Amino acid sequence: MPAYAPTLLLDAPLLASRLQVGRVLVKAETYRMGLPSFKILGASWATYQALCAHIGREPEPWHNINELAANLVFLKPFKLATATDGNHGRAVAFMARLLGFEAQIFVPDGMAAARISAMEKEGATVSIVAGDYDAAVARAAKEVSESCLVISDTSWPGYETIPNQVIEGYATIFHEIDDAIDASGLAHPDLVAVPMGVGAFMAAGVSHYRSGSNQPTIIGVEPLDANCVQESAELGEIAHVPGPHQSIMVGLNCGRPSLIAWPRLAAGIDWFVSVEDEAARQAMRDLAEAAVVAGETGGASLAGVTALLGDKDRRQEVGIDGSSTVLVIVTEGATDPIAYEQIVGRPHDSIGRILTAIR
Ligand SMILES: Cc1ncc(COP(=O)(O)O)c(C=O)c1O
Repeated sequence: MPAYAPTLLLDAPLLASRLQVGRVLVKAETYRMGLPSFKILGASWATYQALCAHIGREPEPWHNINELAANLVFLKPFKLATATDGNHGRAVAFMARLLGFEAQIFVPDGMAAARISAMEKEGATVSIVAGDYDAAVARAAKEVSESCLVISDTSWPGYETIPNQVIEGYATIFHEIDDAIDASGLAHPDLVAVPMGVGAFMAAGVSHYRSGSNQPTIIGVEPLDANCVQESAELGEIAHVPGPHQSIMVGLNCGRPSLIAWPRLAAGIDWFVSVEDEAARQAMRDLAEAAVVAGETGGASLAGVTALLGDKDRRQEVGIDGSSTVLVIVTEGATDPIAYEQIVGRPHDSIGRILTAIR
Protein backbone atom coordinates (compact mmCIF):
# COMPACT_ATOMS: atom_id res chain seq x y z
CA MET A 1 0.00 0.00 0.00
CA PRO A 2 1.38 3.40 -0.87
CA ALA A 3 2.13 5.54 2.18
CA TYR A 4 1.88 2.66 4.64
CA ALA A 5 3.55 3.51 7.94
CA PRO A 6 2.65 2.54 11.49
CA THR A 7 0.44 5.19 13.10
CA LEU A 8 1.59 6.93 16.26
CA LEU A 9 1.39 5.50 19.74
CA LEU A 10 1.37 8.45 22.11
CA ASP A 11 2.09 8.85 25.78
CA ALA A 12 -0.63 11.08 27.28
CA PRO A 13 0.36 12.08 30.85
CA LEU A 14 -2.52 14.56 31.06
CA LEU A 15 -5.06 11.79 30.55
CA ALA A 16 -3.15 9.51 32.94
CA SER A 17 -3.36 12.06 35.72
CA ARG A 18 -7.08 12.63 35.08
CA LEU A 19 -7.79 8.91 35.12
CA GLN A 20 -5.42 8.42 38.08
CA VAL A 21 -3.48 5.66 36.39
CA GLY A 22 0.23 5.21 35.79
CA ARG A 23 0.21 5.74 32.04
CA VAL A 24 -2.24 6.28 29.21
CA LEU A 25 -1.11 5.23 25.76
CA VAL A 26 -3.16 6.47 22.81
CA LYS A 27 -3.01 4.67 19.49
CA ALA A 28 -4.06 7.41 17.11
CA GLU A 29 -5.66 6.42 13.82
CA THR A 30 -6.15 10.06 12.90
CA TYR A 31 -4.19 9.67 9.68
CA ARG A 32 -3.80 6.22 8.19
CA MET A 33 -2.47 6.07 4.63
CA GLY A 34 -4.06 9.42 3.85
CA LEU A 35 -7.46 8.56 5.36
CA PRO A 36 -8.85 9.63 8.73
CA SER A 37 -9.52 6.17 10.16
CA PHE A 38 -8.06 2.68 10.56
CA LYS A 39 -10.56 1.10 8.20
CA ILE A 40 -8.27 0.97 5.17
CA LEU A 41 -6.29 -1.80 6.92
CA GLY A 42 -9.24 -4.17 6.60
CA ALA A 43 -10.55 -2.93 3.26
CA SER A 44 -7.17 -3.18 1.50
CA TRP A 45 -6.29 -6.69 2.68
CA ALA A 46 -9.80 -8.06 2.07
CA THR A 47 -10.03 -6.45 -1.38
CA TYR A 48 -6.74 -7.99 -2.45
CA GLN A 49 -7.67 -11.44 -1.15
CA ALA A 50 -11.13 -11.22 -2.74
CA LEU A 51 -9.61 -10.26 -6.08
CA CYS A 52 -7.23 -13.24 -5.93
CA ALA A 53 -10.17 -15.55 -5.18
CA HIS A 54 -12.21 -13.96 -7.98
CA ILE A 55 -9.56 -14.54 -10.64
CA GLY A 56 -8.55 -17.88 -9.12
CA ARG A 57 -4.89 -17.01 -8.66
CA GLU A 58 -2.43 -14.34 -7.55
CA PRO A 59 -2.17 -11.52 -10.11
CA GLU A 60 1.00 -11.34 -12.24
CA PRO A 61 3.98 -10.18 -10.14
CA TRP A 62 3.73 -6.52 -9.05
CA HIS A 63 5.79 -4.16 -6.94
CA ASN A 64 3.44 -1.30 -6.30
CA ILE A 65 -0.25 -0.56 -6.49
CA ASN A 66 -0.03 0.94 -10.00
CA GLU A 67 1.49 -2.25 -11.33
CA LEU A 68 -1.20 -4.25 -9.55
CA ALA A 69 -3.88 -2.05 -11.13
CA ALA A 70 -2.30 -2.57 -14.56
CA ASN A 71 -2.26 -6.34 -14.03
CA LEU A 72 -5.98 -6.28 -13.20
CA VAL A 73 -7.06 -4.07 -16.07
CA PHE A 74 -8.49 -7.10 -17.89
CA LEU A 75 -11.27 -7.25 -15.29
CA LYS A 76 -12.70 -3.85 -16.21
CA PRO A 77 -15.43 -2.70 -16.11
CA PHE A 78 -15.29 -3.83 -12.49
CA LYS A 79 -16.80 -2.58 -9.27
CA LEU A 80 -16.32 -2.80 -5.50
CA ALA A 81 -19.44 -2.36 -3.38
CA THR A 82 -20.23 -2.15 0.30
CA ALA A 83 -22.50 -0.68 2.94
CA THR A 84 -21.10 1.76 5.45
CA ASP A 85 -21.65 4.17 8.29
CA GLY A 86 -18.85 6.20 6.70
CA ASN A 87 -15.30 5.06 7.23
CA HIS A 88 -15.35 1.56 5.76
CA GLY A 89 -17.09 2.82 2.63
CA ARG A 90 -14.53 5.55 2.22
CA ALA A 91 -11.76 2.97 2.52
CA VAL A 92 -13.37 0.69 -0.07
CA ALA A 93 -13.85 3.66 -2.40
CA PHE A 94 -10.19 4.56 -1.88
CA MET A 95 -9.13 1.00 -2.82
CA ALA A 96 -11.36 1.05 -5.90
CA ARG A 97 -9.80 4.32 -7.01
CA LEU A 98 -6.25 3.00 -6.54
CA LEU A 99 -7.12 -0.07 -8.60
CA GLY A 100 -8.99 1.85 -11.30
CA PHE A 101 -12.36 0.26 -10.49
CA GLU A 102 -15.75 1.78 -9.80
CA ALA A 103 -17.15 1.93 -6.26
CA GLN A 104 -20.79 1.71 -5.23
CA ILE A 105 -21.38 2.56 -1.58
CA PHE A 106 -24.72 2.15 0.21
CA VAL A 107 -25.38 4.36 3.22
CA PRO A 108 -28.24 4.69 5.70
CA ASP A 109 -30.34 7.81 5.38
CA GLY A 110 -29.35 10.75 7.57
CA MET A 111 -25.59 10.42 6.99
CA ALA A 112 -23.67 13.71 7.36
CA ALA A 113 -22.96 15.45 4.06
CA ALA A 114 -19.21 15.58 4.84
CA ARG A 115 -19.05 11.79 5.04
CA ILE A 116 -20.93 11.32 1.76
CA SER A 117 -18.85 13.89 -0.07
CA ALA A 118 -15.61 12.29 1.20
CA MET A 119 -16.66 9.06 -0.56
CA GLU A 120 -17.73 10.90 -3.69
CA LYS A 121 -14.35 12.61 -3.79
CA GLU A 122 -12.82 9.14 -3.99
CA GLY A 123 -14.93 8.65 -7.13
CA ALA A 124 -17.63 6.49 -5.51
CA THR A 125 -21.30 6.44 -6.38
CA VAL A 126 -23.11 6.80 -3.06
CA SER A 127 -26.68 5.48 -2.77
CA ILE A 128 -28.84 6.37 0.21
CA VAL A 129 -30.91 3.45 1.50
CA ALA A 130 -34.10 4.14 3.44
CA GLY A 131 -33.52 2.82 6.96
CA ASP A 132 -30.52 2.11 9.14
CA TYR A 133 -27.08 0.56 8.65
CA ASP A 134 -28.52 -2.97 8.60
CA ALA A 135 -30.82 -1.96 5.72
CA ALA A 136 -27.79 -0.64 3.83
CA VAL A 137 -25.94 -3.92 4.46
CA ALA A 138 -28.88 -5.91 3.07
CA ARG A 139 -28.96 -3.71 -0.04
CA ALA A 140 -25.21 -3.94 -0.65
CA ALA A 141 -25.32 -7.74 -0.41
CA LYS A 142 -27.52 -7.83 -3.53
CA GLU A 143 -24.91 -6.04 -5.60
CA VAL A 144 -22.59 -9.05 -5.98
CA SER A 145 -22.06 -10.21 -9.60
CA GLU A 146 -19.36 -11.43 -12.00
CA SER A 147 -18.18 -7.83 -12.28
CA CYS A 148 -18.74 -6.68 -8.70
CA LEU A 149 -17.17 -7.76 -5.41
CA VAL A 150 -18.94 -6.89 -2.17
CA ILE A 151 -16.29 -5.98 0.42
CA SER A 152 -18.27 -5.96 3.64
CA ASP A 153 -16.83 -5.59 7.13
CA THR A 154 -19.78 -7.42 8.61
CA SER A 155 -20.88 -10.98 7.89
CA TRP A 156 -24.07 -12.96 7.55
CA PRO A 157 -24.89 -16.62 6.83
CA GLY A 158 -22.99 -17.64 3.68
CA TYR A 159 -20.83 -14.49 3.61
CA GLU A 160 -17.88 -15.02 5.90
CA THR A 161 -14.59 -15.15 4.02
CA ILE A 162 -14.25 -11.46 3.13
CA PRO A 163 -15.26 -10.13 6.59
CA ASN A 164 -12.71 -12.53 8.07
CA GLN A 165 -10.03 -10.98 5.87
CA VAL A 166 -11.16 -7.54 7.01
CA ILE A 167 -10.52 -8.67 10.59
CA GLU A 168 -7.10 -10.04 9.58
CA GLY A 169 -6.23 -6.63 8.13
CA TYR A 170 -7.21 -4.88 11.35
CA ALA A 171 -4.73 -7.06 13.28
CA THR A 172 -1.99 -4.79 11.88
CA ILE A 173 -2.86 -2.18 14.52
CA PHE A 174 -2.23 -4.53 17.41
CA HIS A 175 1.10 -5.70 15.97
CA GLU A 176 2.15 -2.07 15.54
CA ILE A 177 1.24 -1.36 19.17
CA ASP A 178 3.30 -4.32 20.41
CA ASP A 179 6.25 -3.31 18.24
CA ALA A 180 6.19 0.28 19.53
CA ILE A 181 5.92 -0.83 23.15
CA ASP A 182 8.69 -3.41 22.77
CA ALA A 183 10.94 -0.86 21.10
CA SER A 184 10.35 1.67 23.88
CA GLY A 185 10.76 -0.74 26.77
CA LEU A 186 7.48 0.40 28.35
CA ALA A 187 5.07 -1.96 30.05
CA HIS A 188 2.36 -3.60 27.98
CA PRO A 189 -1.16 -2.40 28.79
CA ASP A 190 -3.17 -3.70 31.72
CA LEU A 191 -6.38 -2.46 30.15
CA VAL A 192 -7.29 -1.98 26.49
CA ALA A 193 -10.34 -0.03 25.32
CA VAL A 194 -11.80 -0.72 21.88
CA PRO A 195 -14.92 0.79 20.25
CA MET A 196 -17.48 -1.63 18.82
CA GLY A 197 -19.91 -1.33 15.92
CA VAL A 198 -20.41 -4.79 14.41
CA GLY A 199 -17.41 -5.92 16.48
CA ALA A 200 -15.03 -6.80 13.64
CA PHE A 201 -12.29 -4.55 14.99
CA MET A 202 -12.78 -5.92 18.49
CA ALA A 203 -12.58 -9.46 17.08
CA ALA A 204 -9.08 -8.62 15.85
CA GLY A 205 -8.22 -7.24 19.29
CA VAL A 206 -9.56 -10.28 21.12
CA SER A 207 -7.69 -12.67 18.81
CA HIS A 208 -4.50 -10.74 19.35
CA TYR A 209 -4.60 -10.31 23.11
CA ARG A 210 -6.11 -13.66 23.98
CA SER A 211 -3.43 -15.56 22.07
CA GLY A 212 -0.39 -13.65 23.32
CA SER A 213 1.61 -13.55 26.52
CA ASN A 214 0.18 -10.16 27.54
CA GLN A 215 -3.39 -10.65 28.66
CA PRO A 216 -4.88 -7.23 29.36
CA THR A 217 -8.39 -6.59 30.56
CA ILE A 218 -10.42 -5.80 27.45
CA ILE A 219 -13.27 -3.32 27.47
CA GLY A 220 -15.66 -2.87 24.54
CA VAL A 221 -17.40 0.48 24.17
CA GLU A 222 -20.68 1.13 22.36
CA PRO A 223 -23.26 3.92 22.12
CA LEU A 224 -26.14 3.48 24.53
CA ASP A 225 -28.79 3.13 21.82
CA ALA A 226 -26.76 0.79 19.59
CA ASN A 227 -25.15 -1.50 22.15
CA CYS A 228 -25.80 -4.68 20.22
CA VAL A 229 -22.70 -6.51 21.46
CA GLN A 230 -23.57 -5.88 25.10
CA GLU A 231 -27.19 -6.92 24.48
CA SER A 232 -25.93 -10.07 22.76
CA ALA A 233 -23.65 -10.87 25.70
CA GLU A 234 -26.59 -10.52 28.07
CA LEU A 235 -28.79 -12.72 25.86
CA GLY A 236 -26.06 -15.31 25.23
CA GLU A 237 -26.60 -15.12 21.46
CA ILE A 238 -26.69 -12.51 18.72
CA ALA A 239 -29.24 -9.85 19.62
CA HIS A 240 -30.80 -7.22 17.41
CA VAL A 241 -31.06 -3.68 18.73
CA PRO A 242 -33.49 -2.03 16.35
CA GLY A 243 -32.74 1.38 14.85
CA PRO A 244 -32.89 4.12 13.99
CA HIS A 245 -29.57 4.57 15.76
CA GLN A 246 -28.97 8.25 16.29
CA SER A 247 -25.64 8.38 18.10
CA ILE A 248 -23.04 10.89 16.95
CA MET A 249 -20.61 7.93 17.18
CA VAL A 250 -21.83 6.98 13.71
CA GLY A 251 -19.23 4.28 13.10
CA LEU A 252 -20.77 2.38 16.00
CA ASN A 253 -24.42 2.73 14.95
CA CYS A 254 -24.98 -0.95 14.25
CA GLY A 255 -27.93 -3.07 15.33
CA ARG A 256 -26.36 -6.52 15.13
CA PRO A 257 -22.85 -7.92 15.74
CA SER A 258 -21.05 -9.56 12.85
CA LEU A 259 -21.79 -13.29 12.70
CA ILE A 260 -18.14 -14.30 12.56
CA ALA A 261 -16.99 -11.74 15.12
CA TRP A 262 -19.58 -12.74 17.71
CA PRO A 263 -17.97 -15.96 19.08
CA ARG A 264 -14.70 -14.10 19.66
CA LEU A 265 -16.49 -11.19 21.30
CA ALA A 266 -18.45 -13.51 23.55
CA ALA A 267 -15.29 -15.30 24.67
CA GLY A 268 -12.84 -12.44 24.97
CA ILE A 269 -14.35 -9.21 26.28
CA ASP A 270 -14.15 -8.51 30.01
CA TRP A 271 -16.26 -5.36 30.32
CA PHE A 272 -18.99 -3.86 28.17
CA VAL A 273 -19.49 -0.14 28.52
CA SER A 274 -22.29 1.79 26.83
CA VAL A 275 -21.87 5.54 26.67
CA GLU A 276 -24.03 8.57 25.92
CA ASP A 277 -23.10 11.02 23.19
CA GLU A 278 -22.11 13.65 25.72
CA ALA A 279 -19.40 11.31 27.05
CA ALA A 280 -18.00 11.01 23.51
CA ARG A 281 -18.02 14.80 23.10
CA GLN A 282 -16.15 15.22 26.38
CA ALA A 283 -13.63 12.58 25.34
CA MET A 284 -13.02 14.45 22.06
CA ARG A 285 -12.28 17.60 24.06
CA ASP A 286 -10.04 15.75 26.50
CA LEU A 287 -8.12 14.15 23.65
CA ALA A 288 -7.76 17.53 21.93
CA GLU A 289 -6.17 18.84 25.14
CA ALA A 290 -3.77 15.92 24.93
CA ALA A 291 -3.03 16.96 21.30
CA VAL A 292 -4.93 14.06 19.71
CA VAL A 293 -7.59 14.70 17.08
CA ALA A 294 -10.44 12.25 17.63
CA GLY A 295 -13.74 12.30 15.80
CA GLU A 296 -16.97 11.32 17.55
CA THR A 297 -16.42 7.58 17.08
CA GLY A 298 -12.75 8.08 17.85
CA GLY A 299 -13.69 9.48 21.26
CA ALA A 300 -15.63 6.38 22.27
CA SER A 301 -12.74 4.41 23.79
CA LEU A 302 -11.72 7.19 26.17
CA ALA A 303 -15.37 7.84 27.02
CA GLY A 304 -15.72 4.17 28.00
CA VAL A 305 -12.56 4.13 30.11
CA THR A 306 -13.57 7.35 31.84
CA ALA A 307 -17.01 5.93 32.67
CA LEU A 308 -15.62 2.63 33.93
CA LEU A 309 -12.76 3.99 36.02
CA GLY A 310 -14.79 6.93 37.28
CA ASP A 311 -16.83 4.55 39.39
CA LYS A 312 -14.75 3.75 42.49
CA ASP A 313 -16.15 0.27 43.07
CA ARG A 314 -15.90 -0.71 39.44
CA ARG A 315 -12.35 0.58 39.32
CA GLN A 316 -11.43 -1.77 42.12
CA GLU A 317 -13.29 -4.65 40.50
CA VAL A 318 -11.46 -4.03 37.22
CA GLY A 319 -8.20 -4.06 39.15
CA ILE A 320 -6.85 -0.74 37.91
CA ASP A 321 -4.75 1.51 40.15
CA GLY A 322 -2.23 4.32 40.04
CA SER A 323 0.43 2.09 38.52
CA SER A 324 -1.65 0.63 35.67
CA THR A 325 -1.12 1.24 31.97
CA VAL A 326 -4.26 1.93 29.95
CA LEU A 327 -4.35 1.74 26.15
CA VAL A 328 -6.99 3.81 24.40
CA ILE A 329 -7.51 3.19 20.70
CA VAL A 330 -8.68 6.30 18.87
CA THR A 331 -10.02 4.82 15.66
CA GLU A 332 -10.75 8.00 13.69
CA GLY A 333 -9.77 11.61 13.25
CA ALA A 334 -12.05 14.48 12.26
CA THR A 335 -14.26 12.67 9.75
CA ASP A 336 -16.80 15.52 9.97
CA PRO A 337 -14.62 18.65 10.39
CA ILE A 338 -17.58 21.03 10.90
CA ALA A 339 -19.05 18.92 13.69
CA TYR A 340 -15.55 18.55 15.16
CA GLU A 341 -15.09 22.30 15.45
CA GLN A 342 -18.54 22.72 17.00
CA ILE A 343 -17.81 20.10 19.64
CA VAL A 344 -14.19 20.86 20.46
CA GLY A 345 -14.28 24.61 19.88
CA ARG A 346 -11.26 24.58 17.60
CA PRO A 347 -10.66 23.38 14.04
CA HIS A 348 -9.07 19.96 13.87
CA ASP A 349 -6.06 21.25 11.97
CA SER A 350 -5.18 23.55 14.85
CA ILE A 351 -4.56 20.50 17.01
CA GLY A 352 -1.41 18.80 15.96
CA ARG A 353 1.13 19.23 18.65
CA ILE A 354 2.54 15.82 19.42
CA LEU A 355 3.60 15.51 23.04
CA THR A 356 5.61 12.32 23.31
CA ALA A 357 5.47 9.92 20.45
CA ILE A 358 6.47 6.46 21.58
CA ARG A 359 6.82 5.78 17.92
C1 LIG B 1 -13.87 4.93 13.34
C2 LIG B 1 -14.48 3.63 13.66
N1 LIG B 1 -14.18 3.05 14.82
C3 LIG B 1 -14.70 1.86 15.17
C4 LIG B 1 -15.56 1.19 14.33
C5 LIG B 1 -16.13 -0.10 14.78
O1 LIG B 1 -15.66 -1.18 14.04
P1 LIG B 1 -16.53 -2.50 13.98
O2 LIG B 1 -17.77 -2.15 13.21
O3 LIG B 1 -15.66 -3.49 13.31
O4 LIG B 1 -16.88 -2.86 15.38
C6 LIG B 1 -15.90 1.76 13.10
C7 LIG B 1 -16.80 1.08 12.18
O5 LIG B 1 -17.21 1.59 11.17
C8 LIG B 1 -15.36 3.02 12.75
O6 LIG B 1 -15.65 3.62 11.60
